[in-house]
Amino acid sequence: MTLLIKGGTVVNADFTLRADVLIDGDKITAVGPDLDAPTGAEVLDAGGALVMPGGIDPHTHMELPFMGTVASEDFFSGTTAGAVGGTTMIIDFVIPSPRQDVMEAYHTWRGWAQKAATDYSFHVAITWWDESVKAAMGTLTRDHGVNSFKHFMAYKGAIMCDDEVLVNSFTRARDLGAICTVHAENGELVAHLQKELLAKGITGPEGHPQSRPTAVEGEAADRAIRIAQVLNVPLYIVHNSCIESLQAITRARNDGQRVFGEVLAGHLLVDDSVYRHPDWDVAAHHVMSPPFRPKANQEALWRGLQAGMLQTTATDHCCFCTPQKRMGHNNFTQIPNGTGGVEDRMHVLWHHGVNTGRLTPSEFVAITSANAAKIFNIYPRKGVVAVGADADVVIWDPARQRTISKNTHHQNIDYNIFEGMTVTGVNTTTISQGRVVYHDGDIRTVRGAGRYVNRPTFPSYFDAVKRVAEVNAPSAVDRMGV
Ligand code: URP
Ligand code: ZN
Ligand code: ZN
Ligand code: ZN
Repeated sequence: MTLLIKGGTVVNADFTLRADVLIDGDKITAVGPDLDAPTGAEVLDAGGALVMPGGIDPHTHMELPFMGTVASEDFFSGTTAGAVGGTTMIIDFVIPSPRQDVMEAYHTWRGWAQKAATDYSFHVAITWWDESVKAAMGTLTRDHGVNSFKHFMAYKGAIMCDDEVLVNSFTRARDLGAICTVHAENGELVAHLQKELLAKGITGPEGHPQSRPTAVEGEAADRAIRIAQVLNVPLYIVHNSCIESLQAITRARNDGQRVFGEVLAGHLLVDDSVYRHPDWDVAAHHVMSPPFRPKANQEALWRGLQAGMLQTTATDHCCFCTPQKRMGHNNFTQIPNGTGGVEDRMHVLWHHGVNTGRLTPSEFVAITSANAAKIFNIYPRKGVVAVGADADVVIWDPARQRTISKNTHHQNIDYNIFEGMTVTGVNTTTISQGRVVYHDGDIRTVRGAGRYVNRPTFPSYFDAVKRVAEVNAPSAVDRMGV
């Protein structure tokens, strides 16, 4: 099947060009002005709109079993909602229970993800440590296309890693050429504060942010960064929500460390006033970790993106509907943590980023796809409209408007943290693997059409890290000749 996108402006992270895009099968085969349509090609008129790489959301949790329930969005509904919003690939997480065989967990998630409509990949969480976990990390990187491992520094008594696990896993990942990622919150402090708040009779959702102040995140970000510094491993910190973790990343990057930072669309746009909403349900809908923060943090996070201290945007799409949230009706620590957004990320970032001048269109591409593709080593297969790249492409009308609402979204969740937000700049067409899967309200995703994307180890920044290790290699003093 051949597809020609005519009359658009191609926007990549590094250049913008008035050009047509020819797609043959699942690959882009030509990008240039005035391309002729091969016989039998379907021609899509972009009508002057922008043609950009499909979004990559590097942080989602489809059908995650978590906190006594299972996330309501599955891999088909979630990738479909993503496609409507211009996201053509997700990187989700395999999260083994402590003591669970890591390979068993990996294959379980692979099974669930068979229903995905667009391409996907997996980070694998290291939630405990022994020789079998160490061996599994080798198997995953060698045979299963995994090049990133996740570490939860929060969720004590469940999936939290202590420093011993971090040190073991970071060292192993480094030797395997895989990037370490962390959820940075001090789980010990969270557990302590939760107990104190409950003892004071604070049981509602307002207890959630009070049990997870920004210093809790800053401490963990600093600690993870320092551990990574000592071990000389590249580090990626997920869902940075506050000034403290941004400062930790900024300091480390200014000191020459390979540290990358992700920010969620929600953390850029929603503040902590939601937790004091008089309606318990509305407040509980926003319970996620790290929590939404006081307003000053949002502008700092935008500046972090502008300054290049934060490189990627994600959603942490982890949907729990109202009845699930009510599991914590008399104890905020039992409200399942998570919200949605995979469908809305590109729209809200364009509207609040590009339309306000915080981001250029090319910077928008960088933070919605290209940078994630580079960091997770699938560039230029993904994250660019160029010859040889996967034909995951969106056509974007910067003038069109859309109002976000739970009543019209395609996410399997009964509220939307961006409810009522009118955005200018809308995805009109999504192409995944060379097929139109969304066009002007018409959803054509196919259950199971998504492919698992292997990600090779040793992204190029590992070479740089290795050089640093060589330069600073430990040495003994030879005293024999004295
Ligand atoms: O609250 C959240 N973020 N739930 C999903 C798990 C995680 O911490 O990313
Ligand atoms: Zn296997
Ligand atoms: Zn997290
Ligand atoms: Zn998450």
